[in-house]
Amino acid sequence: MKETRKQFIAASSLGMKFNFLHLQIAFVVAMFFLLMAAYVSREISRTSSSSSRSSSSTEVYDQKKDMINEITSDTTGQTAFSSCDLFSGRWVFDNKSYPLYKGRQCSLMNEELACEMYGRKNLNYQYWRWQPHHCDLPRFDAIDLLEKLRNKRVVYVGDSLNRNQWMSMVCLIESSIPDRPKTLHYNGSLIAFKALEYNVSIDFYWEPMLLESNCDDPTNHRVSERIIRGQSIEKHARNWNDADVLVFNSYIWWRQLKLKILWGSFENVDADRIYEDVEMLKAYEMALTTWFEWLDSHVNRSKTRVFFVSSSPTHNRAEEWGKPKKHKCFYETEPIYEEGYWSMDSDPNMMRLVEKYINKLSSQGFNAQMLNITQLSEYRKDAHPSMHRKFWDQLTHEQLTTPNYHTDCTHWCLPGVPDVWNEFLYAYLLYPPS
Ligand SMILES: *[C@@H]1O[C@H](CO)[C@@H](O)[C@H](O)[C@H]1NC(C)=O
Ligand SMILES: *[C@@H]1O[C@H](CO)[C@@H](O)[C@H](O)[C@H]1NC(C)=O
Ligand SMILES: *[C@@H]1O[C@H](CO)[C@@H](O)[C@H](O)[C@H]1NC(C)=O
Ligand SMILES: *[C@@H]1O[C@H](CO)[C@@H](O)[C@H](O)[C@H]1NC(C)=O
Ligand SMILES: *[C@@H]1O[C@H](CO)[C@@H](O)[C@H](O)[C@H]1NC(C)=O
Repeated sequence: MKETRKQFIAASSLGMKFNFLHLQIAFVVAMFFLLMAAYVSREISRTSSSSSRSSSSTEVYDQKKDMINEITSDTTGQTAFSSCDLFSGRWVFDNKSYPLYKGRQCSLMNEELACEMYGRKNLNYQYWRWQPHHCDLPRFDAIDLLEKLRNKRVVYVGDSLNRNQWMSMVCLIESSIPDRPKTLHYNGSLIAFKALEYNVSIDFYWEPMLLESNCDDPTNHRVSERIIRGQSIEKHARNWNDADVLVFNSYIWWRQLKLKILWGSFENVDADRIYEDVEMLKAYEMALTTWFEWLDSHVNRSKTRVFFVSSSPTHNRAEEWGKPKKHKCFYETEPIYEEGYWSMDSDPNMMRLVEKYINKLSSQGFNAQMLNITQLSEYRKDAHPSMHRKFWDQLTHEQLTTPNYHTDCTHWCLPGVPDVWNEFLYAYLLYPPS
């Protein structure tokens, strides 16, 4: 289409310079291209509407996207992703192609993320598409992903925000195979979702601080003082060692000035224990080092793809976007439009460390990638559960109708922002950068 239009413009401007005959020729040429273009786009709309799995209202948009993606991947053998920064872009309101699934279609949905079910009336947060500045994200297709992952295991390893993203992926897949056999299995820190016909396993493993810590219990992890066990990752890592795709995160549990590191064992009370107070960033780097060394020596780099999701921003400080401090994200229904908006709660130093270790993995022959979702999620103050979720404490009417301590401006409603994080994962898995 683009080519055609370029040629049309070239042909007609040439015509202007010459005489009337040339103008006529140019006109005929232009008409020819226009008719061609109309024919081609009709053909495409016919084929894609007969085979499309998406709803009819999204067709026009899909065709355009599919065309662009097909063209880029056909001409180069890859898509343009390798040269395009997917994470630099803007949110576009698009209620034709979003949300990618309906909350009710996801039977496995976690009640802490089911904002619509818990009474949220303004649903605009579901309708935003991420538009990178210099390319398009491919349209998420759960069946293509399942085919790609046939006989494979994906494990999301991390904290509740990583579980939020895992849940999004489960919903994205489940809503496309509503009547096909699947299972969800809980075993301690591990939750495994299986699409049986594809023998695909999409798992979540609770490991909020990368290393062994006193926050490792998957349900009972509120502690007065967080302690990590120096250089100890094996207890966790042996549960995800064999995965084909690993998606890590680890951020919010580190947000304090200092951390306690235990040299010794949590279990063996009699053994010698040494505690060390370490400045947070230093402790974080120690954890990343142990993590890196484990992957380097125990994980098969020609089989396993490694992703690390950058920090997920919170919206607890309404004063940062000019609202009364105590409101948190309670009244928000629109994104922040100020380009480059950045909250004090997001620590770029920690993310630079993650980037450093991802680069180290790459230089060791790993196919490793950071999903740099921080900046784009910073804009989405409108997309948190706020009070529209299940709370584990019994809250009063007063507590539910005013912003307060309970207001959740950390996790994300589904469908919503984490679906987009998974679209990045999808892009990298289906169109690997060269
Ligand atoms: C993440 O993306 C943002 C927005 O494009 C960019 O400013 C930032 O430098 C990136 N950070 C890293 C660590 O790549
Ligand atoms: C999409 O949003 C526009 C503008 O808010 C509205 O007029 C239209 O009815 C919406 N369409 C759908 C399908 O929700
Ligand atoms: C099913 O998938 C697992 C990985 O999750 C793999 O180890 C196993 O070999 C697969 N089974 C078959 C029959 O291919
Ligand atoms: C649960 O996990 C443990 C440890 O990883 C494993 O030994 C056990 O077989 C699992 N149980 C079930 C029912 O899958
Ligand atoms: C690593 O993975 C590759 C690709 O799946 C496989 O061919 C190879 O045998 C594996 N190596 C080891 C040591 O398991």
